[in-house]
Amino acid sequence: MNEIMEDNIEALLQLNQQAWDRRTEIHLKSKFYDVEGFLAGQCKLNPLELSLLGDVRGKNLLHLQCHFGLESLCWSRRGAWVTGLDLSPTAIEQANRLAQQTKQAVHFICTDVLSFGDEVKPEYDWVYTSYGVLCWLADIDRWAQTVAKSLHRGGKLCLIEFHPAVDLLLGYGYFSRDEPDIEVESTYTENAGTEKQRVALWNHSIGEVMSALLRHGMAIEHFQEHRVSPYDCFANLTERAPGQFVWQQDGHEMPLLYSIVARKQ
Ligand SMILES: C[S@@+](CC[C@H](N)C(=O)[O-])C[C@H]1O[C@@H](n2cnc3c(N)ncnc32)[C@H](O)[C@@H]1O
Repeated sequence: MNEIMEDNIEALLQLNQQAWDRRTEIHLKSKFYDVEGFLAGQCKLNPLELSLLGDVRGKNLLHLQCHFGLESLCWSRRGAWVTGLDLSPTAIEQANRLAQQTKQAVHFICTDVLSFGDEVKPEYDWVYTSYGVLCWLADIDRWAQTVAKSLHRGGKLCLIEFHPAVDLLLGYGYFSRDEPDIEVESTYTENAGTEKQRVALWNHSIGEVMSALLRHGMAIEHFQEHRVSPYDCFANLTERAPGQFVWQQDGHEMPLLYSIVARKQ
């Protein structure tokens, strides 16, 4: 990252933090997140992450970019010791409120994920991070270093991310650049209305993500591209079965997600 970008990064983090504070308020009232369902005991995790992590009872799990904690709290309900981390103070405040309400002992931290890497100790069995996370990070190498530093030897990362093919279809680039795309856009829940937030976004190709993990001593154990997403969060999706969304383009199904499991060596 060049010096101009480093000077600028605090301002860009603040821009994204403000956007996510506001988005959290909107998301809490959305059907998309269905907080009521969660409070009634529903599991908000999808079959994909459930199958990749398996039995988490007694595992130390670090959830990076946990938003307002629904998934973190669901991992906790399944018996993991969970630490959730997010940049947005509003999201972390709400996560703590939901933890209290559901009597879950989850530890939530409000911080930038990349700065967190400077202090974290290798104490986790799992790092879990999913569905719309890497585009908020300026430096994918520093992210991979943070993941590797958080895990003890043999600990694993599970990353489930939207496929960069979606970015290409939406008009974004593919490879990482220092300069972010500054966009003014609505959030993805059905109650977004016409309100828009200004955000800074960075692309990271799958090759760059994989190479960064390998550079930091992570062995890739699983990699898969998926044509189905559990989330209806792009304009062009159709629901081919309940909770299974696809993007048809010229008669072809586009890749919507990719998943990686990587082990710290
Ligand atoms: C799309 S959401 C995460 C998806 C999550 N699975 C959920 O519950 O929807 C992205 C999250 O990343 C957080 N975030 C953005 N930039 C961050 C950063 N630099 N450090 C930590 N969290 C960040 C946002 O506050 C937001 O909660």
